[in-house]
Amino acid sequence: MSLLAPQAGDTHMDRIADRVPLHDGFGRRFTYLRLSLTERCNFRCSYCLPQGFVKKKGLPAELSPDEIRRAVSAFSQLGLRKVRLTGGEPTVRPDFTEIIRELSCIETVRRIAMTTNGYRLAERAAEWREAGIDAVNVSIDTLDREGFAKLTGHDRLSEVVAGVDAAIDTGYSSVKINSVLLRALEGTGWEKVLEFVAQRDVTWRFIELMRTNDNAQYHAQQSTPGEAIRERLLHSGWTPVARERDAGPAIAYSHPHYRGRIGLIAPYSPGFCDSCNRLRLSSRGRLHLCLFGKEGFDLRNYLQHEDQQSELIDRIVSAMPYKAIGHRLHEGDSGATPHLASIGG
Ligand code: 5AD
Ligand code: SF4
Repeated sequence: MSLLAPQAGDTHMDRIADRVPLHDGFGRRFTYLRLSLTERCNFRCSYCLPQGFVKKKGLPAELSPDEIRRAVSAFSQLGLRKVRLTGGEPTVRPDFTEIIRELSCIETVRRIAMTTNGYRLAERAAEWREAGIDAVNVSIDTLDREGFAKLTGHDRLSEVVAGVDAAIDTGYSSVKINSVLLRALEGTGWEKVLEFVAQRDVTWRFIELMRTNDNAQYHAQQSTPGEAIRERLLHSGWTPVARERDAGPAIAYSHPHYRGRIGLIAPYSPGFCDSCNRLRLSSRGRLHLCLFGKEGFDLRNYLQHEDQQSELIDRIVSAMPYKAIGHRLHEGDSGATPHLASIGG
């Protein structure tokens, strides 16, 4: 029996995939894979890689385009509908466009999205769109030029904003901004965010700072709950937008005077993990069931030949009962995650 209602436009392959969607013991279905292409990043965000990316010795190579295609093909046979290419900074890979092209040939994958720091978006938005990306999330924690430079180690706010505008002009179906909430930025920048979303068809999402193993002290100093944002929105005429099918845990708000939306991702709020719809594959081929889980399940041995698909599928399915009901960030437990660049934020 299908667990999903058929939708107009579903192809034969979609209906096959719908019959066996990956799920866990808590009734959650996993149609969304976040695929980290690299741990490398050229930025130095203070909560993530404050010293910049430091290469560790002895790590396996990053997944090749062939390995990536095999992995995503297996997930696609298990009901996958959406892949997000992330990192680190996925666009530092010279084969980034080739990877998009490979994935866009997989029939049941309806949406290929990417998360980027945006430093190359202005020049490459059209190329990536043409290759098959249709949704992009860009990280901008502050619209203050100096603040941005201090936080990321790069004085590139204007290029990043130009990248967002290029993505809108190029016709990406979804453009979102990820903006981490930090105490240091509190009380500043609200007007600039409103101005930003006034004319742009984007969703600006504030994200509560998550504690990782490397940023514990920073988190203690800088984390601030998203509740104040929610109250501010509700008191100034913003209303929650109806959630899409398979929507993740973000909540978006709209306002009749603004073209864009403002959203909130509050991982510390109760029930956050209830709507979890995603799995993660690291750039070295480990399946992670949660951003803050343990070491993950190594899939790499099963990614070497086309004829390993059924073993690979079995391996993925057999990992699912180990998915926990939720993270344990409240207890100060960040699992095995040193920083989000290590696993695909
Ligand atoms: N807490 C919250 N968000 C984070 N990001 C990276 N590290 C953290 C953290 N510790 C964000 C990045 C990026 C997205 C993938 O995750 O800014 O936008
Ligand atoms: Fe790079 Fe993203 Fe980490 Fe910033 S948050 S250092 S852009 S991976």
